[in-house]
Amino acid sequence: MEQIGKILANLSESTQTPPSPVETEATREERREQLRRSLGLSSLTNTFDTFKQIKGTELAYSAFKELASGETKWQMLLCYGKPGNGKSHLCEATSIELYKHGIYCSVMIMSKVMDSLKNTMKDGSLLTHSELMDKYCQMKYLIIDDVGMGGSGSSWEWGQIEDIVVDRYRENRFTILTTNLDTTQLPDRIVDRFRDKSKARLILNNGESYRGKKR
Ligand SMILES: Nc1ncnc2c1ncn2[C@@H]1O[C@H](COP(=O)(O)OP(=O)(O)O)[C@@H](O)[C@H]1O
Ligand SMILES: [Mg+2]
Repeated sequence: MEQIGKILANLSESTQTPPSPVETEATREERREQLRRSLGLSSLTNTFDTFKQIKGTELAYSAFKELASGETKWQMLLCYGKPGNGKSHLCEATSIELYKHGIYCSVMIMSKVMDSLKNTMKDGSLLTHSELMDKYCQMKYLIIDDVGMGGSGSSWEWGQIEDIVVDRYRENRFTILTTNLDTTQLPDRIVDRFRDKSKARLILNNGESYRGKKR
């Protein structure tokens, strides 16, 4: 965290005695790359500013932006919709926006979260399963992208996500989930929490895939 703070500070301030223009540019790139990876982003350019206002994406865009502003009472967002319409982009934009405000929240992918939980059951694991679950429940900010992984999540995996959501809902903790699945394919215990307007938003990103539109 401290290291990342330095990276961002160094990116924004002008260096007093640059070694040489070439080296400075290379170092800057290295730092940006380090930051990108540590935040779990596919690109540091996936911001709210670069998100184009495509028909059907308006509600999703506003919900992510509002939540990232830190000014909402509700703290949980479940965004669902077809592949390619910007859900991951909006998760990344949120992570970048939080980062600009000094809050570190990486974008996690459901499959990696599940792998980390399974790894606690292997010999030599530094954390127990329940310690890691506590961590996912208690982290101040949590973004999990691609929940359900196209429907291939096992019932054990769904159980893990449910437990995390239920706990975070009770504590009103900042939580974003995205999925390509429809709400009918998600466990009721999860969807139900996100329907509570006092604490959450359940938003369909109804845009078409952007991938074919890229230049
Ligand atoms: N409205 C948009 N404006 C700009 N880029 C977009 C938009 N929607 C999606 N993209 C880009 O299209 C690609 C696919 O989007 P992604 O966020 O991965 O979709 P999803 O997570 O919904 O499957 C990414 O490179 C993303 O940055
Ligand atoms: Mg995605």
